[in-house]
Amino acid sequence: MLRFLTAGESHGQGLVVILEGIPAGLALDEEYIRRQMERRQRGYGRGGRMQIERDFAHIMTGVRHGRTLGAPIGMTIENKDWANWTQQMSVTPIDEPVKVVTRLRPGHADLAGAMKYGQDDVRNILERASARESAARVAAGAIARRFLEEIGVAIHSHTMSIGGVWAKPASPISWDKVEESVVRTADPSVEAAMMKTIDDAKEAGDTVGGVVEVIAEGVPIGLGSHIQWDRKIDAKLAMAFMSMNAVKAVSIGEGWEGANVRGSQYHDVIDPVADPSRPWQRQTNRSGGTEGGMTDGMPLVVRFAVKPISTLAKPLPSVDLVTGEKVQAHYERSDVCQVPPAGVIGEAMMALVVAEAFLEKFGGDHIEESRRNMRAYLKTVGPRNVARVRGD
Ligand SMILES: Cc1cc2nc3c(=O)[nH]c(=O)nc-3n(C[C@H](O)[C@H](O)[C@H](O)COP(=O)(O)O)c2cc1C
Repeated sequence: MLRFLTAGESHGQGLVVILEGIPAGLALDEEYIRRQMERRQRGYGRGGRMQIERDFAHIMTGVRHGRTLGAPIGMTIENKDWANWTQQMSVTPIDEPVKVVTRLRPGHADLAGAMKYGQDDVRNILERASARESAARVAAGAIARRFLEEIGVAIHSHTMSIGGVWAKPASPISWDKVEESVVRTADPSVEAAMMKTIDDAKEAGDTVGGVVEVIAEGVPIGLGSHIQWDRKIDAKLAMAFMSMNAVKAVSIGEGWEGANVRGSQYHDVIDPVADPSRPWQRQTNRSGGTEGGMTDGMPLVVRFAVKPISTLAKPLPSVDLVTGEKVQAHYERSDVCQVPPAGVIGEAMMALVVAEAFLEKFGGDHIEESRRNMRAYLKTVGPRNVARVRGD
């Protein structure tokens, strides 16, 4: 239905992404995508790379006169840093030998990748394992997000914790404040403490991770399905978020907390239908907008844990890939904390999963057809005695 593929190395010429399945007729321009990509580049705790890059996804295919054609949308994103890596990352063989990386970093793809792909130079692994790839995901996710805007879905994220410093829960969340915050927190009272945690880690040659929440509002009831394991929307969300670099745990709503309380304290009580245009309101949303592998009409909420970055300025003891001898792990320019950009990448993954589930349910080769199908379905959604009549 909706699928995307990315290609590209961290210090290669650039990234390539193809997104297929977006209906025809969607208004889309490069500036919209650029704004999302710029959000990924921000954040306190980033390394020097983000000062070099000015991420811009150049649309090559699938859009004409500002509207999608329903054809695959192909984009390229230039790596400005490539200029410093033309020899190291040359596509064609070069005469001069280049420096190889052999000091394995615990926590990165170095060791397993070198074994699996038979490499003597870890650069042949780390270049693709790098989260530089997430720029391409954000470009694809921006298009899914543009599509979702048209059908009334909005996606946001905020940082819940960094290095053990937790934001107090805020309701409602001011998304403008989150965007203004360098750590993307909704709780201004902890911003300084989060920044200090990052500063302290940097000072010590170390790194910190954290927890992020992504919320999709306006998602219709009934996306995904209970009937097969690989059609469940919570399963698709878990896979999408776990596929992000450095993400090590995912929960839907208060999944972890639910394990420690009674059912009566966890499940979201359904309100009687007072307004037929807004049926099936809940008193709470602990289940994060899914029940039985389907969206339940409440906001979709995904929380995920990001481990600390594995490239440490004060490297961990390690082993050399070639000699097998004890060494210090490899270090090259690196982020100290990647939690703020992870929120933006999480939004892209949420957008791609929700757009796919939407298209699976409603189809539509033109966006008007998708919208029409959704409207017809929504007329049938309500108490069954009302819905049968309205759906005629
Ligand atoms: C936005 C973002 C930026 C990252 N930046 C770095 C970095 O600068 N240095 C690094 O070693 N790892 C960085 N990572 C983490 C690695 O990409 C990741 O740990 C690595 O690919 C190994 O995969 P795994 O952590 O999922 O096991 C970053 C991750 C994200 C999400």
